[in-house]
Amino acid sequence: MTLRNDTGVFHRNIARAYQTAVAGDGAVVVDANGRRYLDGAGGVFVAILGHSPAEVAEAVADQAGKLNFAYTGDFTTEPAERLARKLEAIAPSGLSKLWLTTSGSTANEAALKLARQYHLLRGNPEKTKVVSRWHSYHGSTLGALSMTGSMPRRRPYEPYLANFPHVSPPYCYRCPLALTYPACGAACVEEIEHAIRLHGSRYISALIIEPVAGGPLGALNTPPEYLRRAREICDRHDILLILDEVVSGLGRTGTWFACEESGVVPDIITLAKGLGGGFVPIGAVMVHQRIYDAFEASGTSFVHGESFTGHVLLATAGCAVIDYIEDRRLLQQVRVLGPRLGARLGALAAHPLVGEVRGRGLLYGLELVADKRSRKPFDRAAQISEQVVEAAARHDVLLLAGNGGADGINGDTVVAAPPYVITEPQIDQLADALATALQEVAARVGM
Ligand SMILES: Cc1ncc(COP(=O)(O)O)c(C=O)c1O
Repeated sequence: MTLRNDTGVFHRNIARAYQTAVAGDGAVVVDANGRRYLDGAGGVFVAILGHSPAEVAEAVADQAGKLNFAYTGDFTTEPAERLARKLEAIAPSGLSKLWLTTSGSTANEAALKLARQYHLLRGNPEKTKVVSRWHSYHGSTLGALSMTGSMPRRRPYEPYLANFPHVSPPYCYRCPLALTYPACGAACVEEIEHAIRLHGSRYISALIIEPVAGGPLGALNTPPEYLRRAREICDRHDILLILDEVVSGLGRTGTWFACEESGVVPDIITLAKGLGGGFVPIGAVMVHQRIYDAFEASGTSFVHGESFTGHVLLATAGCAVIDYIEDRRLLQQVRVLGPRLGARLGALAAHPLVGEVRGRGLLYGLELVADKRSRKPFDRAAQISEQVVEAAARHDVLLLAGNGGADGINGDTVVAAPPYVITEPQIDQLADALATALQEVAARVGM
């Protein structure tokens, strides 16, 4: 790749040249040369409705023309009130209050602080630590990064991070207990209880879990019995359960929330990404009424200032996205298309580079390994997942690479999370391009 020095933008990857995106059309992004790319991951799980859905564009433009901003220290707005009601209607029962923010990171940051303030209000000032899982990703800000378990993301900033406990994820392909699901009964969940006892439950404020992981763990699902048991453990130790549904929420798995499969009602759900339809940066913290009650009982507000909390355009976009999903019956669409994506990608499990294919709904991940039998990961220096993603992009399909999931350094995943409006031929195009990409990279590394 050539280094482009003629740009004023501090690009994500300074070692590559970027094409200029100029248009979007359903699941396709178009660059300035007219080249069309199938957006197989909605960018980074954001474009869940595809690109530039007209109804959402109109709703946001219409609102922008009427009122672009009203400080939430002075006013509420009709879109903010409407979004709160809409989210309450689709959320697990009891999650009735909405704190609207501007990203997944700030949603998780707010959740961390909400949990702390809740315990303060109830006379438990020592409850400050959040238990999370290794290889998880909860965001880039320091609180969210402290909860994050992904080592490549944490490593440069370790000196700034809070000392929070981490436990193994339910990573069946590399089971730390050498057991097999479902016979194991999700026994790895007991590590949560163990960590709580080790650190002392009086110091633990919350447990945060991604029901289906996005990047580093490549669409790793959390078994329903694991979530149910985690809920019990939290209840027993007066610990809040936060579900990070930034990737898995809003229909990605065919239901509004991935946790519906388990029947578990968390204390807090965080959302972001697709809730803004790609029009606005957004994050949402959905709070259970019983948590809010503690604030109300003490007459105390949440001590957390943000200029853009509850922003009227974010709320407008959120409402329009939910309407769009309902009007077009996109949850049903995900339930129909998900198995097709799963079947097409599942067939790639036979490829020499592919150790496992996993996922739910329209969220699938391939774990790439150097040796299928021993499950040995590739050396990170080989950048295998990046190579596969770059090869797929050469065939006009955009996917996401994840790394570090196997041992904190090595471990390669490739993730597909297409917009819900993807068509069946486009699913075939995605799978074909990924198969070709795997072939090309396998040939390059002599496998
Ligand atoms: C599960 C999860 N939580 C939180 C975040 C952070 O969201 P944002 O990038 O909007 O801050 C991400 C981003 O990828 C994510 O995947």
